[in-house]
Amino acid sequence: MAILMSQTNIPFPGNSAPIGVFDSGVGGLTVVREIMRALPEESIIYFGDTARVPYGSKSKETVTKYSRQIIRFLNTQHVKAIVVACNTASAMALDEIEKEIKIPIIGVVKPGAKVASETTKNGKIGVIGTEAMIRSNIYPSYLEQINSNVEVIGKPCPLFVPLVEEGLLQDPVTDEIAMRYLSVLIDCNIDTLILGCTHYPLIRSTIARIMGEKVKLVNPAYETAWELKRMLEQENLLCNARPGLGGNQYQFFVSDAAEKFRNFANSILKYGILSAKTINIEEY
Ligand code: DGL
Repeated sequence: MAILMSQTNIPFPGNSAPIGVFDSGVGGLTVVREIMRALPEESIIYFGDTARVPYGSKSKETVTKYSRQIIRFLNTQHVKAIVVACNTASAMALDEIEKEIKIPIIGVVKPGAKVASETTKNGKIGVIGTEAMIRSNIYPSYLEQINSNVEVIGKPCPLFVPLVEEGLLQDPVTDEIAMRYLSVLIDCNIDTLILGCTHYPLIRSTIARIMGEKVKLVNPAYETAWELKRMLEQENLLCNARPGLGGNQYQFFVSDAAEKFRNFANSILKYGILSAKTINIEEY
């Protein structure tokens, strides 16, 4: 905590400073993609912890320690706000780290929960994510705070992350696994499903087809980008520059395998990424 607070000597970042976004690896790029759409004039510094992914099978202590290191790194880049793009880190670390930093910080869970509670008609909400995120019980606890009448059914879907990272977005193997995972949610008669993991928006069409058209899918990445806009507005931190820098305002850092990261990023982002810089996150 002391080290996080030591940023007091750093000048407070102004409106044109970048937004720091972090994730356990490549998945947070689905959040970056939505921020680029919602806030095209903003600069972004992204960090993907590709050396230590996955977070979804790790303990709260470990994910909190990793998140603190990443925030220290982002502070050296003078970011004006931080987005925890990783659902697992939002669930396990955000509560603690938000007390320790002086700049605004937002995770993906609260925005997702808020929209899901507004979307459901029958009060039955499903949530899918990593083992750790589902175990944390974070979505049920937020949703119950908003509306005590909702019933939340969580289902971990650990194989979705490797399937997406292997590029099997439209594949019979992904269909088969998705059927097995999702059948329990179909049986529970949910009408709303939260895609509670960074990777899941990339297999949205498969999930939508299996769940059927009566089930509305909530993408926390999308909701978070708009919530971020509201937060920056409120804090008077929106960038005043004109949009259209053609992608030059985005910088990417990873802890390993920069080339693999770059290829994945270029398959899902509008702007081509020329390079991702590797840093030693253990030094922070
Ligand atoms: N980014 C993680 C999440 O959204 C998924 C990958 C991992 O397990 O680290 O929960």
